Amino acid sequence: MKRNSGPAVLDPIETASRDEIATLQVQRLKWSLAHAFQNVPHYRAAFEAAGVHPDDFHTLADLAKFPFTTKHDLRANYPFGMFAVPRSEVSRIHASSGTTGKPTVVGYTRRDLDVWAEVMARSIRAAGGRPGDLLHVCYGYGLFTGGLGAHYGAERLGCTVVPMSGGQTERQVQLIQDFQPRIIMVTPSYMLSILDEFRAAGVDPRESSLGIGIFGAEPWTNSMREEIEAAFGMHAIDIYGLSEVMGPGVAQECVETKDGLHIWEDHFYPEIIDPVTGKVLPDGEMGELVFTSLSKEAMPVVRYRTRDLTRLLPGTARSMRRMEKITGRSDDMLIIRGVNVFPTQVEEQILRCAGLAGHYQIELTREGRLDEMRVLVEARADHADEASRTASAGLLAHRIKEIIGVTAAITVTDPGGVERSQGKARRVVDLRPKA
Ligand code: DLL
Repeated sequence: MKRNSGPAVLDPIETASRDEIATLQVQRLKWSLAHAFQNVPHYRAAFEAAGVHPDDFHTLADLAKFPFTTKHDLRANYPFGMFAVPRSEVSRIHASSGTTGKPTVVGYTRRDLDVWAEVMARSIRAAGGRPGDLLHVCYGYGLFTGGLGAHYGAERLGCTVVPMSGGQTERQVQLIQDFQPRIIMVTPSYMLSILDEFRAAGVDPRESSLGIGIFGAEPWTNSMREEIEAAFGMHAIDIYGLSEVMGPGVAQECVETKDGLHIWEDHFYPEIIDPVTGKVLPDGEMGELVFTSLSKEAMPVVRYRTRDLTRLLPGTARSMRRMEKITGRSDDMLIIRGVNVFPTQVEEQILRCAGLAGHYQIELTREGRLDEMRVLVEARADHADEASRTASAGLLAHRIKEIIGVTAAITVTDPGGVERSQGKARRVVDLRPKA
């Protein structure tokens, strides 16, 4: 690993006691629930239909009485119906495209943008970033929250920002060589493309200036972490967020522990629920992550169902609780002949095969009544001959069968043979006929 960071000066809340955190949360939740109820017709109607009023909230456990909010609610109020302030007080809009239908629109007041920059600065610092570091942003700039979210957080921390955005991989590598950034912020799948480009250019990635990568916006495994860390001699740290709740910087892993992501609980209140019954589960149990915003002005969210699956764990490097690295979303889960499979489980097995690179895609087809799964994966450049590819395919098929419990057909392509993305990778291609 390259040079470590010096000690960080933390915000007081990062080391506050659990009691202090809970007191702040209760106080902020009271405000947030009342703000949503008074200013967003959707919340007023939803609270009334559930027979609750913001005055019914006294302790954190009371939050369970309030109704959930879903992506469907946001779409039904497209574009600005979920805003709790007049449009003229909204300083910025972001939107996530989604695969079908209308985009989900989110808005921020000036103060929301300030809070966002603050939690992002805190995140970059937790990953090991310090004022004065040069930081290269490859998250997309635009309606996606990744680029601008990272950008303003890095500026707030006092970094020198290179707003490169996604794409132009050759140029990315050139600029990394020329500007010598210590930190890179990018999706883990695109980091692998950058890695390939380093090698194609004949540059040893371990000789690069990069010491810290802050990776998120899509699920990735600890095996992928090891792969990237070994290739670049850098720390690979996880960052989580979603547009509906803010953008990147809702939760962040700390470089000193790399043991899951601390949720910035002074602004985002997490719950884990059983996705089927909606019942709140105790810390430590796996379920769907739900967030209520504590300070957002333009677009408060009450019990927003993320569809992300994880569990809550006690704080370690910071007093705020952690969420375990996300294995997948409930809507990413594949059911292959009755077995539940997440793309990350396949990723883990791929990266255990020495002859395979981390670029992969899962294709689903239907033969008669039965679902078939095909994994397209790239050979590593030094294992690309016919015999090695056949051996890798056999090994991967065997491991997927043994460990995940499903039969998969494997196609090992030449390096570069799997579709690349410059942002979030498309891991599943569903070719099954629509019902
Ligand atoms: O992806 C925000 C973001 C940008 C996070 C850059 C981190 C870095 P959305 O486009 O709204 O926002 O997508 C949010 O992406 O619900 C998760 O399913 C997934 N996701 C985000 N971060 C992670 C992560 C941004 N670290 C959705 N691990 C979320 C796993 C992640 N999944």
